[in-house]
Parts: sequence; structure tokens; C-alpha cells
Amino acid sequence: MLPPLSRQRGPDADGAIRQTDTDAALARLSAVKKGYIEDPFITHLIPRAQFQPTRPPLINIGTYVRSKSIDALVEQWLEFCEQQNTVCQIVSLGAGSDTRFWRINTGPRSHVLKSYLELDFPDVVTRKAMAIRKSKELSAVLGSPESIVVASGGTALHSAKYHLLSCDLRHSPSSSLAPILDGLLSQSLPTLLLCECVLVYMAPESSSALVDWFVNYFSSAQDRSILGAIVYEMFGLQDAFGQVMLNNLQSRNVSLPGAAPYPTVESLPERFTRHGFTFAHALTLSEVREKYISHSELERMSHLELLDEVEELNLVLKHYAITWGAKTFMPVHKSSLWGQWGLSIRPPPAP
Ligand SMILES: C[S@@+](CC[C@H](N)C(=O)[O-])C[C@H]1O[C@@H](n2cnc3c(N)ncnc32)[C@H](O)[C@@H]1O
Repeated sequence: MLPPLSRQRGPDADGAIRQTDTDAALARLSAVKKGYIEDPFITHLIPRAQFQPTRPPLINIGTYVRSKSIDALVEQWLEFCEQQNTVCQIVSLGAGSDTRFWRINTGPRSHVLKSYLELDFPDVVTRKAMAIRKSKELSAVLGSPESIVVASGGTALHSAKYHLLSCDLRHSPSSSLAPILDGLLSQSLPTLLLCECVLVYMAPESSSALVDWFVNYFSSAQDRSILGAIVYEMFGLQDAFGQVMLNNLQSRNVSLPGAAPYPTVESLPERFTRHGFTFAHALTLSEVREKYISHSELERMSHLELLDEVEELNLVLKHYAITWGAKTFMPVHKSSLWGQWGLSIRPPPAP
């Protein structure tokens, strides 16, 4: 969700992009404080978390819908891997202060996760590596203290499962990604790419090169597997509301070149189908809220705080979407389960 307008920005554009991580983390913290979502780890990644102000209801609801839908897709991915008796790996691009690794690795399907790789700019990685080192709660989930290694002058951190790596995702993947993933990524395991609010900050050619690199990496494997991907970000910014969003961000020195090719929700799956994905789907956050969040959850949320800006909420939720898809490299009889990967429409309310 968009951060408040009052935030001060430095003149450098990459600094402004890195700052979006703080905005995302503060939005998550706010949704936790207000009781929308649970996340026992986020406070350890935000300095002076207890003093941070909460966000308006609109932002909290958006954060709730976004988190719940991505959580459901990741959870089902892990469930399918478990059903197929395989472990898997997750690669999070532009991971920022995300806590997903900690939530999975303390949850019921931690045994399904073979490795979890997070990539971001060096500054963001260094900050996160220091926060992990400082926090007993975060480092305990990674393993024993001697198994946690800070490397490359603080711009990388390694542990048994979790790896935090620095790169600029706009650079050619063969020279930037390939060397740092070497030895950490297996070609034969189901692999899920997470791109939460990151591709939108780069030119479409750069994000396309990233997806291409991963597709080629798994296509050339002997043991055929599956590559899944989830993208969450803004789209449809050609309309009047989208222009306001773009102008607001522009005033903070942030541009969204990655949104340009996606004027409608129907156009979003193309980001995967053009790379030969077996299937791809997209839903706006507005559709998710209307059809996929249970009545009991909607009822529970309605008691958390008063929402005045109903129309604005709908407009904002119509400009954010979750797109997911997978490319299977395995025989059809093994891959049919993955075709069911998706969100479940909620049942009608009890009479
Ligand atoms: C809006 S934040 C999202 C963080 C996290 N994925 C989440 O959803 O909470 C965007 C993140 O992408 C990172 N990012 C953007 N462009 C990047 C690039 N070219 N290379 C590496 N990281 C990038 C930023 O530094 C930031 O941490």
C-alpha cells in the first residue's frame, strides 16, 4: 500500500526505492498492532517498533488482504510439495524486511522447506543481517549461533536453510544472480519465486530477464521439476486514480516503470505466459476481499476500527493484484496437482 505523503526522501532514486521497504514493514507492523494479522517477528526487524505509529484503516485492510492471499498461496504450495513427498526452495526477490521465512520455519510445514533465499540491495541486506544478529528471536529460528555466518563484509548472511544475499536485480541475471545463487539453488527441486512489490520498480525488460533466467535455469535440469511464481504489485495506473498514485510516488522520487505493460487485470498473467508458464492467474485485492475472505474474518475486521474511506479503499484495492503461475517441467501425470494451485472462493454465509 502507498505510504503517507509526508515522508522525507533523499535525492537518490535507489534510496527512495529502498525506503519502500520501511514503508512496507511499518504497514505490516501496523496491521499486527491493530489485530488484523499475526506476526511475532516483524517487531524485531523495525527499530523502536513499539513507538511506531499505526497506519490508517485503509492501509491496514489492504495489508490484511495482501498478506492473507499470499500466505494462502504459499501454504498451498508447501502442502502440494508435502503431498508429492518433496522438499522445496523459495527465492524471495526484493525481500526487504519480510518475515515469511521465520513464519514458515516455525510453522507446521517447516520440514518441507529445504532452503529460503532472500535478495535485495546491499544496504537493505546489511541492515537485515544486523537485525537478525542482534535478535535472539530471529537468530534462534536460523539455527545454532555458530551455524549463522555473516559474509561478504556484512552484505550476505548464511545459515542452514536461510540465505540473505545482495544484488541489484536490474543487472543482467547471468552476471549478478548466477554467481550468488551458485551452490545454494538446486535445479531439481520445486522452486517458488516471490516478488512482493519489487518488479514494479524496474523496467519491464529487467523483470522479464529475471523470469527468463529462472525458466532457463530449471529447463536445463536433468531432474524435471516445477517453477512457481507469485507477484504482488500495483497495475492499471493509466486511469485517473492511477495517475494520482503515480504523481504521489513521483513526488517522493519513486517511479513505477514496471506497471506500464499491465493496464488491466487480464493482462497480468502475460508476465508469466509469455515465458511459457503452464498456467497463470491474477486477482485484484478488491476481488480477493469480495469473494475469497471468509465472512467471519470480514466480520471480525469490521470490529477492529472504523473505516470511513470505503470508496477510497475500493479504488486502492482495484489497483493492486496478486498474480501467480507455474511452469512445470515434469511429466503431465505428476504435474496435474499443481494446476489446482490457487485461492479458494469462500463458501456462502451460514443461513
Ligand atoms: C516495497 S519493498 C517490499 C519488501 C518486501 N518484499 C515486502 O513485501 O514486504 C521493495 C523491496 O524491493 C527492493 N528492491 C527494489 N528494486 C530492487 C533491485 N533493483 N534490486 C534489489 N532489490 C530491489 C527494495 O530495496 C525493497 O526492499
